[in-house]
Amino acid sequence: MYCSTSFRYFFQNLYNGRHCMPIARNVQLARILRHGEYEWQDPKSEEDVVNITYIDKDGKRIAVRGKVGDNALYLAHRYGIEMEGACEASLACTTCHVYVLNDYGNQLPPSEEKEDDLLDMAPFLKENSRLGCQIVLTKQLEGMELQLPKATRNFYVDGHKPKPH
Ligand code: FES
Repeated sequence: MYCSTSFRYFFQNLYNGRHCMPIARNVQLARILRHGEYEWQDPKSEEDVVNITYIDKDGKRIAVRGKVGDNALYLAHRYGIEMEGACEASLACTTCHVYVLNDYGNQLPPSEEKEDDLLDMAPFLKENSRLGCQIVLTKQLEGMELQLPKATRNFYVDGHKPKPH
């Protein structure tokens, strides 16, 4: 049975026990990614690749093959790097505090006032401090190094630790 009709009609028929398949025309269903899901996808081409290095609290260097558009916080989660991100990138905690090494900070968009206000309260603040959740990878950031401070402070919800998706 053919029906050139709306989804509402389709579901009404389904409910009434009449099986009538609509012809889908120009219907595109795009899956919406949740926070952090994009970072779990591998680069689709070499042109997308952005190699960066995290340096953890103990000085261990972790090289990561990221991609254009990756958020530095969620990318760290993918590779098990202890960048907490308690507020899940809503600019409310500072637990994603990082030092951007070797002048790569100049390649980043300037921090917004809210980020600056939060960083002012972060322990171990330095000139090159940024919030990792505000860093999105671009090709210009190839080779960037992000160092985690010795400690961070959570202004959001004490004890809340987000789980990687
Ligand atoms: Fe909370 Fe970045 S994750 S400010």
